[in-house]
Amino acid sequence: MLLTGLLALGVTTGVFISLSILLLVAERYMANYGTCVISVNEGSSVFELQGGGTLLAALYENKVFIPSACGGKGSCGYCKATVLNGGGPILPTETPYMSRTELRGGVRLTCQVKIKENIEIRLPEELLSVKEYKGRVSLVRSLTYDIKEINMDLIDPEEINHRPGQYVQILAPGPDGPVFRAYSISSPSYEKNYVQLIVRLVPGGIASTYIHNLKEGDEVIFTGPFGEFHLSEDAATEVVCVGGGAGMAPISNIVHSIYHRWPERKCHLFFGCRTTKDIFYLDMFEQLAKEHPGFKVTYALSDPLESDEKWDGDTGFIHLSVEKRLTSEHKRQAFMCGPPPMIEAATEILKSKGIWEEDIFYDKF
Ligand SMILES: Cc1cc2nc3c(=O)[nH]c(=O)nc-3n(C[C@H](O)[C@H](O)[C@H](O)COP(=O)(O)OP(=O)(O)OC[C@H]3O[C@@H](n4cnc5c(N)ncnc54)[C@H](O)[C@@H]3O)c2cc1C
Ligand code: FES
Repeated sequence: MLLTGLLALGVTTGVFISLSILLLVAERYMANYGTCVISVNEGSSVFELQGGGTLLAALYENKVFIPSACGGKGSCGYCKATVLNGGGPILPTETPYMSRTELRGGVRLTCQVKIKENIEIRLPEELLSVKEYKGRVSLVRSLTYDIKEINMDLIDPEEINHRPGQYVQILAPGPDGPVFRAYSISSPSYEKNYVQLIVRLVPGGIASTYIHNLKEGDEVIFTGPFGEFHLSEDAATEVVCVGGGAGMAPISNIVHSIYHRWPERKCHLFFGCRTTKDIFYLDMFEQLAKEHPGFKVTYALSDPLESDEKWDGDTGFIHLSVEKRLTSEHKRQAFMCGPPPMIEAATEILKSKGIWEEDIFYDKF
């Protein structure tokens, strides 16, 4: 009896799996959704295409560039657009990235929306001015054993306008086709003819390996600028930067942009390293602090080695330095870049120091 039951269950499961596979294959190779029309921001950009692909890919092909830090894998939650019509129901892969307001407002992850009918979407106006750039590598320099600084002179267009803390998306060749990955712009925003990146090599990582292997003269394609960082124009607003590793990239941009424009402005940079081998730019920032008394810089080592015995700076996680050294004042903005646990711990400290949540900006990576 039990054996017959198990056999029946096995057969039913087998039939179900075979049917699902058949449906997937049919969808992939036989479905014909015909020509579909995509309309962006009430017709400010309209294009026709053959259905079947993703909305993200369709936008890219038609030069509407939106953030897609994971390259369409559905794991970054950056590629959002409000879908006003078409697009079908939201998928379970999308909901973890949505707030309740976004769910109610029809916000979708464009990499998860398959084009099967005409679709009308709304995007922030700012994204419509994002461009594709061609750059030529003009400098590659090792900052530590796993971090490189790369400068790219702009060829076409020849200039970029970006705000401190924004990022670009580099197109890198991958085993299954090109991929996009996000990299913060480390050159100051007043430098318009080149873009500098600070990139940490992720072992086996597609884009970071590609970037680490770039040589002077190589051409690179990227889109941008993207990102929500908004440095206050009010010189009386003090700026707090907290970072670790390659999270230095947007911070270096912010600090240099500040002192180019407001030499007297107050800014405190906190930077976490594991050992002295992970330290870079410290001399440069100490020099900047001599020139601008409003600038303070604190580096901390979280895992000093025996050979680091000469280190006389802070030790411990960087959020502890923030807790120890930052006094509570009112007019402040904070910008953070680094691993998620660092951001989460530092956010709590910054809030306890009286910085409002809406004045705390971060990118986790
Ligand atoms: C807004 C934003 C700005 C960013 N700015 C920078 C920057 O300025 N400099 C910089 O170096 N990076 C930055 N990143 C991270 C960068 O976009 C890539 O995620 C990173 O370089 C890995 O990409 P990859 O293609 O080399 O690795 P992938 O091929 O995507 O991943 C390979 C493997 O490594 C794992 N992995 C992916 N990322 C990491 C990681 N960070 N640490 C450990 N393991 C990982 C993956 O899970 C996978 O198993 C930023 C990310 C965002 C979202
Ligand atoms: S591109 Fe990352 S979630 Fe869509």
